[in-house]
Order: sequence, then structure tokens, then C-alpha cells
Amino acid sequence: MGDRHELQLTLSSSVPIIVIETHDEARFLGMLTELAVSSTAHKYRPLFRWSITDGLQRLDLDLEPQTHNAKPEDVLKHIRAVTSPGIYALLDFHPYLGDPVNVRLLKDIAIGAVARGQVVVLVSHELKLPPELERHSVRFSLRLPDDKARSKIIGALIDEYQQANRHANVEVDEQAFKLLVQNLGGLTHADTERLARHAIYEDGAISGSDIPAVMQAKYDLLNSQGVLSFEHDTANFAEVGGFRALKVWLAQRAKALRSTDNAGLDPPKGLLLLGVQGCGKSLAAKAVAGIFGVPLLRLDFGALYNKYHGESERNLRESLTTAEVMSPCVLWIDEIEKGMAGGNEDTGTSQRILATVLTWMAERKGRVFLVATANDISALPPELVRKGRFDEIFFVDLPNAAQRAEIFTIHARSRNLEPAQLDLQRLVHASEGFSGAEIEQSIVSALYAADALKQPVGAKHILAEIKRTRPLSVLMGERIAKLRHWARDRTVSAN
Ligand SMILES: Nc1ncnc2c1ncn2[C@@H]1O[C@H](COP(=O)(O)OP(=O)(O)OP(=O)(O)O)[C@@H](O)[C@H]1O
Ligand SMILES: [Mg+2]
Repeated sequence: MGDRHELQLTLSSSVPIIVIETHDEARFLGMLTELAVSSTAHKYRPLFRWSITDGLQRLDLDLEPQTHNAKPEDVLKHIRAVTSPGIYALLDFHPYLGDPVNVRLLKDIAIGAVARGQVVVLVSHELKLPPELERHSVRFSLRLPDDKARSKIIGALIDEYQQANRHANVEVDEQAFKLLVQNLGGLTHADTERLARHAIYEDGAISGSDIPAVMQAKYDLLNSQGVLSFEHDTANFAEVGGFRALKVWLAQRAKALRSTDNAGLDPPKGLLLLGVQGCGKSLAAKAVAGIFGVPLLRLDFGALYNKYHGESERNLRESLTTAEVMSPCVLWIDEIEKGMAGGNEDTGTSQRILATVLTWMAERKGRVFLVATANDISALPPELVRKGRFDEIFFVDLPNAAQRAEIFTIHARSRNLEPAQLDLQRLVHASEGFSGAEIEQSIVSALYAADALKQPVGAKHILAEIKRTRPLSVLMGERIAKLRHWARDRTVSAN
């Protein structure tokens, strides 16, 4: 059943107040007008539109506009006094529902409405009805365009562009068109049109290069709260040493996350990266979005608590919904234990936050892949790491010799040093027990040291830095041992 048909049924039911929350006011009014003018003579009801700026106007007839009954109270008194049938669309009436006089007037109208054939339609982007009106009302919602409708919208825009530009040919990359249709999901008709129009009009083509801008625009549209951030630089696994098992695991699942026709494979749900500090968990989390080729959204638990005191859960729920609308995407929660630690002074809130996350993990519909990182198991609530929550829990240990060699190579190259001239074997041997972050730091410091001595950087500078460093694995040996012990039967190795 389409929106139009459903609206018609709602209008002819005997509910006096219809509430519609929409950002697509123009489309809704268009539909309402079509329905009004096309109804049969004996069922015909005049249609009115009211706004604070224009007052009451007839919508079904082309009359000269004249502003009358602009005041909220006046328009309600007017409707109450009219005894003949009519449909009254009140636009953005929500601010005036705080006034008891208006509420009472609406109730008077509602009580008499059925006998007179009147309906009041309240159209706002968001509207909460006072409880005394709730039982006289029904909510109507416009369906968001589905795949088929979106591809029709984009098709129409292509025609529009071609006609406006003397039949210029819009070059359409088929794969990009598919992605565009898919990525515009979850938006209203008007927003879909706006974003797609921008993509087409900008260069007269639909190509792969349009997609990131569309995703950014879509994200900007959805995220007004600010606890979710759109991460532009998704890392590449080529910059990450080790993580062999994780890379294989992810590569096997990339297709099932990206596309809907995936031969019966369930889309992957998410993973937890647990492990030693500075060993590349955050870096790898970013690379997951890179390997999947989808946008990366980061959920900041710190901001959730600090910025939105008392509204953390609502904001969390909104952020999770935004992520669903952005799907397919990766949702990254860094240091998840910090947001959920039971020892937090506000235990009530953190427990509700945990419950919200767990419920969402169990029930989410979109293809949102959750990547969480943690380095402190004692702060992790057991419910979160129970089997089945995440597809897998990966343990990120200190890099072994081969992995250290990879990490030295990656960071030497990124600073224009030739690894072959660095006596890699010695560096690897000397850096036993070092994390990736510490290895990187030894190169960074060696560059400064060599610069101060006006020498070209060589293995000896890096070795000197390694010797001066007391790695975390020594300082926190006990904690790491505990972490390894915990991880033994609960996790698989990421390396
Ligand atoms: N395996 C690795 N390969 C390449 N670089 C690494 C690796 N591990 C760490 N690094 C370097 O160290 C930096 C810090 O690592 P990262 O923040 O990802 O570690 P982490 O495991 O998230 O640490 P923490 O638990 O403290 O958050 C990275 O940005 C990267 O430059
Ligand atoms: Mg980190």
C-alpha cells in the first residue's frame, strides 16, 4: 500500500486529529491536495492550509491569498465555529500547543469534528501532543523511498539535467549508480533528490568520485548531535604491521557487508580488538573501514557523557540510528571500556548505556559493522564479551620478531628511510617487547638525535633510542600477563 492510499484511509477514518512529523512538508501537502481535489463530489471536502505567516488559505482552489486568522487562537476558534466539512492542515503548530487555550480549543474541535466531517492535520518536523489530545489523534508517517523509488528519483534527475543542458549526455557509471541508489537509503524524498541533484549537476556525470561527497553530505544532514564523527582518513592495512589473521578474516567478509545480494551470507556484525597498549588497535580499527570500502563513523563515548548530561542514552540511540541510516558503514567505538566501566561515579547511566548498546547489537537491522577496541579487561562488563555478541574477539599482542620487522619497515619508509640500510635484524632483536607505538617513537626520536648531530640517520641512532626506552611491556609486565591469560581461551590472535 502506498503513502497516498494510506493517507486517504486515514483521512476518511473518524479520527479528528492527524499528526505527521516530516521534513518533506511540500511533498506531503502535494499529496494532500491531490487527494482532496480528486475525491468524488459527494465526499468533497475543502482543504485549508494554515501557517503563522500566511494565516488560513484554501489549498484545493486557486484563490487570491489573503491573510486572515493568522493567530493560532483565532484559527482554532474559526474552525470550531464552522459547521461544514473541511480538512485543515496546520503547519508548524507545535510551538502553540504549550498554550492551554489552544489545547482546549483543539479538544473542542476534536469532539465535534466527526459529526461535521472535519479533520485537523498537524504537520511539523517534530510534534508532541499533550496527553488530553492524544486519544483523539492518530500518527501518519511518510514512507522513505525504497531502492526502486530512489533509482526512479535519480533517473528523473538525469533526464532533468539533460533537458536543461540541451540534451547533454549524463555519463553514468553503472556501479556508481548502484552505489548512489544504495547510499541514499534512509533519507526523505526531498533529501534524496537534493543530494542526487548535487552529485549530477556538479559535473554532469555519475561516477565513483561522487560517492564520498554524497556520504559526507548525508552524514551532515543526519548528525546534528555531535557525538558521532565522520572520519575522513580511514587507514589502509598496508600501513599496519602484523594483524595477518584479522586481515584474512575481514577480506572474507567485505563483500557480504557491502552488498545486499550476498548468496545467503549473513552480513558481519562486528569485532572487538582487545590488547596491549600501543600495538595498533586504533590504527587497525580505522583500516577495517578501508578494507571494507565503506564510511567510518566514530562514536565518542566521552562526549556522550560530558556534553549531554542526562541525555546520554537518547543521544546514543540517535547516534546508533544515524549509523543504521548510513549503512553500510563501520561504527568505531574506541576504548569501549571507558564508556561502560562499572566503577564510573554514575553507575546508573553507564549501566543504561551498556543496556542500550547490547540491545542494539542484538536487534540492529542495517549493515553496520561495529569495531570496538579495549585494553583493560577488568573494566569490561562480562555481558559485552559473552559469546555471540561480537562475531569475534581478537587479541592484539606485542609484535613478534617478524611483525616488528614489518613495523620498522613501514615507519622507516613513511619517513623516507631505506629499511635495507638500517640493519633491520639488529633493530628487531634489540626491540623485543616493544609495541608498535614504541618502535615508531624510536625512529622519530632517532631522526631528531641525528639531526642535532648533523648526521644522516642510521641504525645506530635508532638502536641508541631503543636502548634508552623502558618499554611498557616491562613497566606493566604483570598487567600484560594477566591480559594474555584472560585472552587465552576467549579470543583468537589478530596476528
Ligand atoms: N602494528 C602496527 N603497525 C604499524 N604501526 C603501528 C602498529 N602498532 C602501532 N603502530 C603505531 O603506533 C601508533 C599508535 O598505535 P594505536 O593507537 O593504534 O595503538 P592502540 O593499540 O590503539 O593503543 P591504545 O591501547 O593505547 O589505544 C599508530 O598510530 C602507529 O603509528
Ligand atoms: Mg587506541
